[in-house]
Amino acid sequence: MNDTLYRNFEKLVEIAIRGKKFQVPENNTCLRAFQYVSPETIPYGRFCWNQECQLCRVTYKLEGQPDSAARPVLACKVLVAEGMQIIELTDELKWTLSGVLKTASAPSSPG
Ligand code: FES
Repeated sequence: MNDTLYRNFEKLVEIAIRGKKFQVPENNTCLRAFQYVSPETIPYGRFCWNQECQLCRVTYKLEGQPDSAARPVLACKVLVAEGMQIIELTDELKWTLSGVLKTASAPSSPG
């Protein structure tokens, strides 16, 4: 892993992306966290990484705040937080995260 990709972090925090839980480095943006969980695919997304393209838009809630409204934000701008529940993704993010968001229990066909 190229450590210069990520801002300094001392621990991982747990977030959920469409209900699936991941451990990601604190002090990093959501988009960088997505790259942490899917380093092979996020670089292929058409992301500008500087708040212009809007292709990284997500909607999230915070765990433990069930009454809070879902917040639409740019994943390249907002830092991850413990208990963040990302509930909506753009098509670009769905495509680049599709591998890690697949259910692990999907049956494989024999031979
Ligand atoms: S990656 Fe372009 S706005 Fe976030």
